[in-house]
Amino acid sequence: HRKYVAFQPVQKTDRRWPDQVIQHAPTWCAVDLRDGNQALVKPMTVAQKQRLFDLLVKLGFKEIEIGFPAASQPDFDFCRKLIEENRVPDDVRIQVLTQARPELIARTYEALEGAKNAIVHVYNSTSTVQREKVFRMDREGIKEIAVNGARIVKSHAEKQPGTNWTFQYSPESFTGTELDFAAEVIDAVNEVWRPDQGQPVIINLPATVEMATPNVFADQIEWICDNVKYREHFQISVHTHNDRGCAVAAAELAVMAGADRVEGTLMGNGERTGNMDLVTMAMNLYSQGIDPTLDLSGMAEITDVVEACTEIPTHPRHPYAGELVFTAFSGSHQDAIRKCLSTYKEGDKWEIAYLPIDPRDLGRRYEEVVRINSQSGKGGVAYVLERDYNIAMPRWLQIEFSKVVQQAAETEGGEVDSDTIHRLFEEKYLAV
Ligand code: KIV
Ligand code: ZN
Repeated sequence: HRKYVAFQPVQKTDRRWPDQVIQHAPTWCAVDLRDGNQALVKPMTVAQKQRLFDLLVKLGFKEIEIGFPAASQPDFDFCRKLIEENRVPDDVRIQVLTQARPELIARTYEALEGAKNAIVHVYNSTSTVQREKVFRMDREGIKEIAVNGARIVKSHAEKQPGTNWTFQYSPESFTGTELDFAAEVIDAVNEVWRPDQGQPVIINLPATVEMATPNVFADQIEWICDNVKYREHFQISVHTHNDRGCAVAAAELAVMAGADRVEGTLMGNGERTGNMDLVTMAMNLYSQGIDPTLDLSGMAEITDVVEACTEIPTHPRHPYAGELVFTAFSGSHQDAIRKCLSTYKEGDKWEIAYLPIDPRDLGRRYEEVVRINSQSGKGGVAYVLERDYNIAMPRWLQIEFSKVVQQAAETEGGEVDSDTIHRLFEEKYLAV
């Protein structure tokens, strides 16, 4: 495939991330209402946006990108509604996106008039492809767009002193940008904003398109962390997309490599294959004993609201959230789960075969764990009868009766529910 060229690895002999484990949750920023929304067949209505915004606040997000108000009237109106109706809690910062163009930045500040806390997120594209083929500009020209944008962002903020402003800059298409050039642009932007003098600044490094394996992305992040000015005075954020199916892995490795903050969406909705899935990454941390600082214990409500707002169903195998992700149909899995659960007590270390976390931590029930079809064995059938009907079968009966259930499952071709198993048991052994 000479048409495609492998991404060159970053030359880094002293990389630190392979030896790390994540110590604490990053700062999260939910971009469902901007990146997620802009990728939908049918963008969200104001009511849907409000519902999703309220959910994000309830889950504990403190930074929420709510739209691109200078580019979209509904986004502008939603921003005004949030501010005028006082819908943003004092500890939440709303974030809005704008290109680094004077008239768009001016309109962005109009949208944010009266906000208590806001993040103005300005971006321009920096990759070789975008420079050469889209903008037809050299490095200097592209850097100038970023620096001008930073200046205009700063001057508008000075004219609206009633808001606590955070400035965010993204070199869009960062993953296709030479690292030395990305660092040069970041330094130039920070020379305007001066995070070392107290201005809160976020530098967001997007895998606008996921172009390489997650280790390469992590190296890019580590390289930037080590080669920019004022590093200790601003946050490095990552914003990964899922083109190669590795957005969560890339974000996790990026945090190990030095990133402080992660942008993503619930269930990974977003451009093309989506944004980094916040649910998966947060629960991955949780499963390793790290407080994700988000409350995902009501997973059914989360999937309901996300589905209603995005009109995209949740895949049954979606990590942590899908209908089938804590279910075992096969006999050997069921048997192992049953044995582990029979000795498990509240407060014990979670060591249950085939279940990476306790489904109850997501508001799910053990009833979903063992379900019966033609793949199931005696252990599963015995577990269901005992759990739902308090019927304990001796081993010889388990073997005999499971054949009856298996026969029914093969005839039906699908799942045999608990009621049917009980009826079969009554018919065979209790009928007079
Ligand atoms: O994916 C991307 O590069 C973006 C930027 C605007 C941050 O969404
Ligand atoms: Zn994006």
